[in-house]
Amino acid sequence: MDPISVNRERRVIVLGTGGTIAGRASAASDNIGYTAGEVGVADLLQGIGAPPGIGLEAEQVSQVDSKDMGFAIWRTLAQRCAHWLAEPDVAGIVITHGTDTLEETAFFLQSVLAPSKPVVLTCAMRPASALAPDGPQNVRDAIVVAATPQACGVVAVCAGTVHGALEVRKVHTYRLDAFDSGDAGPLAYVEEGAVRQLRCWPAADPAARTVFDRIADAATWPRVEILASHAEARGTLVDALLEERRRGAVEPVQGIVLAATGNGTLHHALEAAALRAQAEGVAVVRATRCAEGRILPRPGQSLRDAGTLSPVKARIALMLELLVAGPAA
Ligand code: SIN
Repeated sequence: MDPISVNRERRVIVLGTGGTIAGRASAASDNIGYTAGEVGVADLLQGIGAPPGIGLEAEQVSQVDSKDMGFAIWRTLAQRCAHWLAEPDVAGIVITHGTDTLEETAFFLQSVLAPSKPVVLTCAMRPASALAPDGPQNVRDAIVVAATPQACGVVAVCAGTVHGALEVRKVHTYRLDAFDSGDAGPLAYVEEGAVRQLRCWPAADPAARTVFDRIADAATWPRVEILASHAEARGTLVDALLEERRRGAVEPVQGIVLAATGNGTLHHALEAAALRAQAEGVAVVRATRCAEGRILPRPGQSLRDAGTLSPVKARIALMLELLVAGPAA
């Protein structure tokens, strides 16, 4: 851990996980040909400054390109957040993260912590070595949110906009303002060091502790796969997963999320295979491929739906649900 400054009234802890925000390219003009996760989190804080009465501390949790995010890092991250949130003088936490799976980590942390203090993920679309990097302002804005006394829950801050963990989604491959909250809209804006709140913060929920304890204990986490419905979709991938289960695979599939069309509809061949999987004890959930809206329930549906959750978030929700439920009898 690299202490940046201590002995202030309240602390904001900045946890580094890697990403473009910590990326370095060989030329300052290169915004895409860089290696993610190269610059240490303490270095990312140089020159950022903190709001009055706030001290910053940095801790490197991992140093990865977030496309390679995995359960081991998630578990450590959740544990480090829980540790710091329990410190009375810690106002909140900032997590520097790659943009590519930021929404998954945010949803995961909200599911297992549902904290009464803010946990703020932030990122950058340009590497730290860029002519005009976007990371420093994003970090500064994230610190402001983490130090806000009324704030709570897991949120993401990018390009001056605060998104809730449940809604946040990466929607652009290149633009600096790469995230969106869909129908729900942003939770707040950060303007010149002040938070302008538009909606409620994600709710604190002590029941999340049960999920946290399960992720800490579990030797392995349930395998949940995502399969998409599309024109000419087939059931062969579902059948291959079922065959693996029947043959006693070490990590058999326990859940399948179907990235469904529109209001949760499936190609008939995929649907038939999914029903076979459900009959064999695999948990199956439909989540819409649409970027906005939710699946509106219709009578007579044999496969349950994920409501507003995107396929990647529905996968995390199902994995945690299976983990808490434990092995089927
Ligand atoms: C990553 O997700 O780690 C790389 C891409 C990014 O941060 O924009």
